[in-house]
Amino acid sequence: MNRSFLKWQGGKGTVIDEIKKHLPTGKRLIEPFVGAGNVFINTDYNEYILNDINPDLMGAYYYLKLNHISFMQRLAQLFIEGADQTGYLSSRKIFNSGRRCGKNFERAVLFVYLNRHCFNGVCRYNQQGDFNVPFGDSKKAYFPDSEMLSFAEKLTNASLCSTDFEEVIAIAKNGDVIYCDPPYLPASKTASFTTYHTKPFTTEDHQRLNAALIAAAERGASVVLSNSNTTETREIYPDFIFFEIDARRSSAAKAGSRKSVKELIGVLPRPHAVLLDQAGDRMI
Ligand SMILES: C[S@@+](CC[C@H](N)C(=O)[O-])C[C@H]1O[C@@H](n2cnc3c(N)ncnc32)[C@H](O)[C@@H]1O
Repeated sequence: MNRSFLKWQGGKGTVIDEIKKHLPTGKRLIEPFVGAGNVFINTDYNEYILNDINPDLMGAYYYLKLNHISFMQRLAQLFIEGADQTGYLSSRKIFNSGRRCGKNFERAVLFVYLNRHCFNGVCRYNQQGDFNVPFGDSKKAYFPDSEMLSFAEKLTNASLCSTDFEEVIAIAKNGDVIYCDPPYLPASKTASFTTYHTKPFTTEDHQRLNAALIAAAERGASVVLSNSNTTETREIYPDFIFFEIDARRSSAAKAGSRKSVKELIGVLPRPHAVLLDQAGDRMI
């Protein structure tokens, strides 16, 4: 299995083989919620469209693709200058005082530096848009050079964007494959980690996603979706056929703690068909 150079909450590294069983062949894979790109780097499509609403994440991919050598050289410098907590806090301050949007090489490199040095790879911003995750542990952070090299090579076949998922799913046409890994519906009232960027991902967002995916399937795209193993998932995505899989998840709260949980992989039948009984009610 290939590993991403980023740490990411909800990263699909542990369940990649299960996901691949459900991904059909096709020319192009569209990932509206790419995160750390574990599915991207472990599949073999001719073309990719990668999107995430987090512009810092997509900025990092953009500059890595543009010139991976200068990106990695600058990152290596930051690893040396900011190896301890004092260095981390001063880099975080620079990151937060910089230009927030638009393309910016230094911000993109700082984002990867912060990702490798912050607590448990958590990506969290406050209401003002400041990255506010504390320093991770004091062990020397791992510099992911081989992971970045293979990621950069694979990016040559990828188009990148940073927008809401609906705009990207609208691009999908006949023959495309879409893999969606949105922030999950909470598995319980206490497990409600659904905010990756500044805005939480709501039930209405899941309903929007369901509608966008059904429309894409009607245009001839194949659709695969990951989500939590809950009644709510099955209710919000009623036309999907779901498969339960075992996932080993690390907890955001406790570094190093892992537990096995079930999650769902949903596949939308193509061409999209809903079985109705004689009265016109949905049968499944
Ligand atoms: C579960 S993570 C994806 C993990 C990824 N599959 C991996 O293996 O690393 C969900 C991603 O959705 C992104 N996201 C949240 N809201 C979004 C939206 N409205 N449109 C697009 N991406 C969004 C988050 O920034 C986050 O990176």
